[in-house]
Order: sequence, then C-alpha cells, then structure tokens
Amino acid sequence: MEALKGRDFLSLADLSVGELDFLLQLAKQMKAGRANPHCNKVLGLLFYKASTRTRVSFTVAMYQLGGQVIDLNPSVTQVSRGEPLVDTARVLDRYLDVIAIRTFAQEDLQTFAGCAKIPVINALSDRAHPCQTLADLLTVQECFGRLEGVTLTYLGDGNNVANSLLLGCAMAGMNVRVATPEGYEPDAYFVEKAREIAKGKSEVTVTGDPVAAVKGAQVLYTDVWASMGQEEEARNRIPLFQPYQLNEQLLSCADADAIVLHCLPAHRGEEITDEVMEGSHSRVWDQAENRMHVQKALLASLLGAV
Ligand code: CP
Ligand code: NVA
Repeated sequence: MEALKGRDFLSLADLSVGELDFLLQLAKQMKAGRANPHCNKVLGLLFYKASTRTRVSFTVAMYQLGGQVIDLNPSVTQVSRGEPLVDTARVLDRYLDVIAIRTFAQEDLQTFAGCAKIPVINALSDRAHPCQTLADLLTVQECFGRLEGVTLTYLGDGNNVANSLLLGCAMAGMNVRVATPEGYEPDAYFVEKAREIAKGKSEVTVTGDPVAAVKGAQVLYTDVWASMGQEEEARNRIPLFQPYQLNEQLLSCADADAIVLHCLPAHRGEEITDEVMEGSHSRVWDQAENRMHVQKALLASLLGAV
C-alpha cells in the first residue's frame, strides 16, 4: 500500500483500520507464498533491551525480502557512551533505509522519528508492543477465520502488550477484556482510545475479576507479571497476581474451543502453567512464527515494496 511508504510505526494508532487490515492480508498472502515483494534495503536494529523473537524475526524477514540488517548493539556503538539520541538519529538516517528500536521510553521513539526521515518501527517500549499485536491478530484470524466479534481476554499485568492489544483488538472489531489486579490496569490512554474505536461495534472491558473475564472467551492471553526493567518488583507481585494465572481451571471457564496465546518469553509456573502452555489449546508457537510474517509485510509496506 503506497500510503504506508516512508511512515513510522510507533503505535497501532499510526494505522487506520483499513491499513491494519491490509497489513494482515498481506502477511497472510506472504506466508502462503502468494506474494513475494522484494527490496534491497538496509534495516538497523537498535535494541536497548534483550530480545530473541523480535530481533531474529526482523532479521530473517529482512533477509527474505532481499535486504540486509545491521545490529546496532548500544554497547558497541557511541550510544552507550552518551551520544545524544538526536545526533545518533540524524546520522543513522543517512545510512539506513529503516530502523527498528526497542527501548524504555516511548518518547525516545518519537524523538528519533522526529529527527529521521526513514521509517522508525517500535520494536517494544515500556508503553507499547505494536509488532506483537500484529502477530497476535494474524494468529487469531488463522484460528477463527475472522477477527470481528471474537472475544479475547488478557490476564495479568496491564503492560505494553496489553496496551497494544486493546487498541489492535478494538480496531479489528474484536471484544477485548483485560483482567488485572488493582493498580496494574493498562494505560488509561489505550483504554479510552480502544473504547472510542469500539463504540457501538464491540466491547472493551477492564476488570479485576479473572473468572468473569474469561467466561466464554475464545482467546486467552497472558504475559509476564513483571516486564523488562521491573525485575526487582517481580517476586513481590507473585501473590497479588496468582488469581490471574492462566491455568487449567481458568481455561475451563472459557469457550470450549478457546485458544491460548502468550507473547513469550514465559515464566512457566507464574503467569501460565506448563500444562496450559503445552496443552491442546496453546497456539504460542504459531503466534511466535507469525512475528516474522507480519513484520515482513510491515517492512515491505514501509519501504514501498508493495
Ligand atoms: N515477544 C517478544 O517480543 O519476544 P522477544 O522479547 O524475545 O523479542
Ligand atoms: N511485557 C514484556 C514483553 C516482552 C516481550 C516486557 O516488556 O518485558
């Protein structure tokens, strides 16, 4: 879609509903081998936090498109020695065709994007994980043949993954329920924005009641109880989050054909049990694979190869 060429992807809010649908359709076509866009461009990866899936899926996606990837590890660039982000951005803009950044503050992504003309992709921030949501939606679509009207329940910490899911599900016409302990609700901006988009079409619920939230749901989703950067609080959160653990008991309250998703990495025995992760409802490996397909579609679109 020509309209996406040269744009940034910092949040799902950067896409229209039509553009989101286009990306998912393109990813589906590319996964099936029915579309093979090509672009001989260079992607930079600037990751301030650890990553397995995002790093590797972006790298493989770019190689498969015919492009190259440079890993701009902060520890071996001047970034870790304090070079201002605005200076780094203006220089990298002259070398690269597109950059994916994993960082703490969403504002850093906006600062970088404001200084660079190349597309900037949010590869996770404390606030949002929009690439993950693209893969999640593709997975739900594959499992149910549609997104509209499907009910997804997210259990646990109202974090970056929950924020992006709220927006993505609302944009896709899904019902979305988020169940968290008090004080760990998703960011109010994302809840309000999702409600605004869903108004009159689907439901957006934020609750403290995990059992009510999973009742009849077709997709159960969870993520770690403490995200990267919150490791010190992790142990203290366990008792508070225990009722939100995705286990057989909660799963039995959902729709009989419900699927289980987790963005990974998982802390088995905390937010999800081994049984559920390995059980017949789990689609977590397809979900992880889909990171590559949606990001390939995203790169091809932002680089104007489709
Ligand atoms: N889900 C996800 O973003 O995984 P990584 O942290 O391994 O990239
Ligand atoms: N919420 C998690 C997601 C990891 C992919 C984190 O930010 O650490």
